[in-house]
Amino acid sequence: MNAAAAVAAAAPLEPALEVRELVAGYTPEVDILRGISLLVRRGEIVTVLGPNGAGKSTLIKTVAGLVPVRSGAVALFGKSLVGEAAHRMVARGLAYVPQTHNVFPRLTIHENLELGASARDDRAAIAADLARMYELFPRLHERRRQAAGTLSGGERQMVAVARALMARPTMLMLDEPSAGLSPKLVGVVFAKVREVRELGVTLLIVEQNAKAALAISDRGYVLAQGREQVSDDAAALLANPQIGALYLGARMHAS
Ligand SMILES: Nc1ncnc2c1ncn2[C@@H]1O[C@H](COP(=O)(O)OP(=O)(O)O)[C@@H](O)[C@H]1O
Ligand SMILES: [Mg+2]
Repeated sequence: MNAAAAVAAAAPLEPALEVRELVAGYTPEVDILRGISLLVRRGEIVTVLGPNGAGKSTLIKTVAGLVPVRSGAVALFGKSLVGEAAHRMVARGLAYVPQTHNVFPRLTIHENLELGASARDDRAAIAADLARMYELFPRLHERRRQAAGTLSGGERQMVAVARALMARPTMLMLDEPSAGLSPKLVGVVFAKVREVRELGVTLLIVEQNAKAALAISDRGYVLAQGREQVSDDAAALLANPQIGALYLGARMHAS
């Protein structure tokens, strides 16, 4: 290890995404998030778990500027995201892959990826990033002229991730990337998530598939009823039988 690497290894990683006491909801009458705090450090993969309706998607959508913040703080690399328009988030370095409707089904894979770079004008770098995406997802290269709507669920998830990466985000949020996939494809998708981190991207993942998600994560948070209940290292959460029984249900042992 050289000197710079030694310093980097010893230093605590800087906060990437900070959420503090976040209260948010779709309508003024109902708070869905009722005081959530979480931290994702640069280079981490952090997973948010919790039963259906816990507020996982709402958390991601609120960070992405799609649900109004009632109170609390959201900051990316120390700068507040509260009040920022959703369409400005990409310019702030934040990309988000929704759980469904995350590709343009009538457009080809290639066109989907190009759209991911539509806010950029650095043509040479865009071309290099396209090549990099096809390297990361060789199957997408084979099928690049095919309409995204004709792909399997796993392949479509990869198009959605690749398209988000074409915006060159520093932080990527994925809403249930494994939803609807066979156990084998779940493994493939999460292995790709690890490779995405190697590109220097910090990741926040929301999942119901606790076991598969924690296996590739550094840390995890468990949400229930709009509040975080537990947070710990991913390995500790995986090994904690109470967590499995209380919050993760049968899914914990299903795959
Ligand atoms: N567009 C919406 N308008 C109003 N309420 C919503 C909307 N989307 C979700 N909710 C409500 O917010 C709560 C949390 O939902 P969600 O964040 O989707 O949970 P999760 O992703 O953990 O399953 C649920 O009670 C749900 O009914
Ligand atoms: Mg959800």
